[in-house]
Amino acid sequence: MIKKGDVRPIKAKPVPVAKVLKSEQEDVPAILRPQTLQSYIGQTNVKEHVQLMIDAATQRKSVLDHILIHGGPGLGKTTLAGIVAREMSGQFKVTSGPAIEKQGDLAALLSSLEFGDILFIDEIHRLRPAVEEILYSAMEDYVLDLVVGKGPTAKSMRITIPDFTLIGATTKPNMLSSPLRDRFGSMIKLDYYSESEMEDIIVRSAEILGVKLDNEAAVLLASCCRRTPRIANRLLKRVRDFCLVKEIDFATRVDIESTLIILGIDNLGMNKLDRDLLDVVLNKFDGGPVGLKAISAAMQEDEDTLAEICEPYLMQVGFLQRTHRGRIVTDEGKKYLLVNPI
Ligand code: ADE
Repeated sequence: MIKKGDVRPIKAKPVPVAKVLKSEQEDVPAILRPQTLQSYIGQTNVKEHVQLMIDAATQRKSVLDHILIHGGPGLGKTTLAGIVAREMSGQFKVTSGPAIEKQGDLAALLSSLEFGDILFIDEIHRLRPAVEEILYSAMEDYVLDLVVGKGPTAKSMRITIPDFTLIGATTKPNMLSSPLRDRFGSMIKLDYYSESEMEDIIVRSAEILGVKLDNEAAVLLASCCRRTPRIANRLLKRVRDFCLVKEIDFATRVDIESTLIILGIDNLGMNKLDRDLLDVVLNKFDGGPVGLKAISAAMQEDEDTLAEICEPYLMQVGFLQRTHRGRIVTDEGKKYLLVNPI
């Protein structure tokens, strides 16, 4: 008999399998991420650099030096950091600059590390200065210098932490303070992938996702994913949806074209936002030069989205130039808009 105050045992209801699975968004990128340097496609120089560091640290039986990885969104910074952790057999602890609010949050994280662990801080350029200060001695001497209390009774404390590796990732390396930047033993830049590397990534991901594609389909997808694996994987998921709904077993070039039309993406990988940006600079500001603030106000779109997502690609395909006087649409960009009007 259950008396007052007793804890009633709760009979767990069986949870339907679909609810236990992570959301598609979390789940799919995780299974698509390569787990070893060998299966990481492209970035040949980076892989050599990382392999050298891993081999040397392993021979020395020491932890890996701290690494700063920079490059545009979706190029595989987190994936590479995860591979390093796996190859060094350390735990992989992931956080991000804006997620660490107080010195205490970072101190707690650092003191929970074990020898050889990898602490990954995404968007490290967004760390608050007070939080960043804790990192200096942690990175250099593996100690935490903390001040406990306030005013005249405040005491400084020094805590030793195990040797660890910090991997910082950023899309904006020039926004890191020099004391922080100087404490990284290696700076690694991820570049855009070549089209043939993108094809290989697409073929690999298609196999994992169970999407059957012919070669022409893979080539077309590779040409419109902005040389970015995250975009390729996202497009591939939509191709998978298209094939499922249309009951297609084997996707050909035509099926990819139909999916791209639904998504509003053309065969250069340009989407509506990219085209709008070109159109605004050309038709509202006479082709430029015009500042990002004015473009952002005219489009009612966030400056960072335009600067970090649209502009790097528009510049890469040669449609836009960033000059010290502002943004300019190139002749190529004008021709593109003539053929692909808004
Ligand atoms: N998925 C995302 N990035 C990748 C890469 N560089 N190699 C293989 N698969 C990937």
